[in-house]
Amino acid sequence: MEDFNASIAVDGRMYEQDIRGSMAHARMLAQQGIITEQERDLILEGLASIAHDLGQGKLEFTAAAEDVHMNIETFLTQRIGETGKKLHTARSRNDQVALDVRLWLRDETNDIKAQVLALGEALLTLAEQHVNDLMPGYTHLQKAQPVSLAHHLLAWFEMLRRDYERLQDAMKRLEMMPLGSGALAGTGFPLDRMAVAIELDFPAITRNSLDAVSDRDFAIEFCAVASILMMHLSRWAEEIILWSSDEFGFMELDDAFATGSSIMPQKKNPDAAELIRGKSGRVYGDLLALLTLMKGLPLAYNKDMQEDKEALFDAVDTVKKCLLVITPMLQTARFNTERMANAARGGFSNATDLADYLAAKGLPFRDAHEVVGKAVRHCIEKGLTLEELSLSTFKSFSPLIGGDVFETLDVMQCLARRQLPGGPAPGRVRDAIEEARAWLKECGSK
Ligand code: ARG
Repeated sequence: MEDFNASIAVDGRMYEQDIRGSMAHARMLAQQGIITEQERDLILEGLASIAHDLGQGKLEFTAAAEDVHMNIETFLTQRIGETGKKLHTARSRNDQVALDVRLWLRDETNDIKAQVLALGEALLTLAEQHVNDLMPGYTHLQKAQPVSLAHHLLAWFEMLRRDYERLQDAMKRLEMMPLGSGALAGTGFPLDRMAVAIELDFPAITRNSLDAVSDRDFAIEFCAVASILMMHLSRWAEEIILWSSDEFGFMELDDAFATGSSIMPQKKNPDAAELIRGKSGRVYGDLLALLTLMKGLPLAYNKDMQEDKEALFDAVDTVKKCLLVITPMLQTARFNTERMANAARGGFSNATDLADYLAAKGLPFRDAHEVVGKAVRHCIEKGLTLEELSLSTFKSFSPLIGGDVFETLDVMQCLARRQLPGGPAPGRVRDAIEEARAWLKECGSK
């Protein structure tokens, strides 16, 4: 039972948060006259020395003391004697663990937010270099219309921006201080809950003691946000893998982020990208584990909830590792812009522009679409691109076509024409980069 019941092997990593929470609790107990100032000081000194020794690896947790809370309390009593036993006055491990996980997750969320901003910064730096570099835009993974590499990278940036905003939004529900909820029904001691919240830099206290000790929404919400983030990274990873293939040849990863094959000497595998794609599955699993863990639990605390940490920690660790790798992987990648531009010129990615040209000259768009369809078919039969047709051939498809058609078909012009907000025209993309930079700066300064 001891082995089965103990969670120290997992929750021991929250020791710093546990001690921070206990220090705030002890200060408040003294402020309220529940313990004396001498007792408080003894407790604070004891806790500080335990934090120090744990940091140095000089103390070892034991399964006999079950979890991080009891281990630290045991150390404290060993060090300062009977006074150590007063720390837990007006507190339960149920509100204590709720606080620890919130403190821990807030620290980690802040780290992740900084990583997300660093990745956003890297994307913008790359985008700036490729505003005029054409690449094919795809739908159904078939060449559709020309875009620029910068525009594509800015699409990634938007996904990331939403991830950041979701992390930020989840903070509102995370930053609520649960101490004072006791085991489930609060306490008769005259605690100052807000003082503890202020000391721990929480803007609010939880509003219902039963809910406070049984709520793990914040952990689930983090995993949901993390799952969406990982879903995004997996999509980028998939594109990186495709682009690194010989068939695409759009980019080459730095050797540091690729590996060879043990049998095929020519291979350079995009392992880092594949692992990011694969690890998204772990995080979805963590989300599902937490949802399933909490499903059907009656109020208030149930020991099932001790199982929350492994999944949450795994999600946090995985997201952090993936962000740590993807940023330098992108920063060191080489883009074969020549090949991308050539790919943008093929595959009739300017066909829509020809249809638009005819529509602008008064032909109903549906008819224009049909005319261009015929011209494309003709080109495929002759092995030509649209811009290689002669003016007289063009005229045989539609008398509306004039000499200005060649400029219309130039892919760079196709790009430049798409001037609407949100579009890929170089000017618009430069505006978008500027807006994104300002947003990053504002996020970073908060
Ligand atoms: N180790 C426990 C957890 O992580 C702490 C709370 C235990 N509370 C209790 N009444 N057994 O959930």
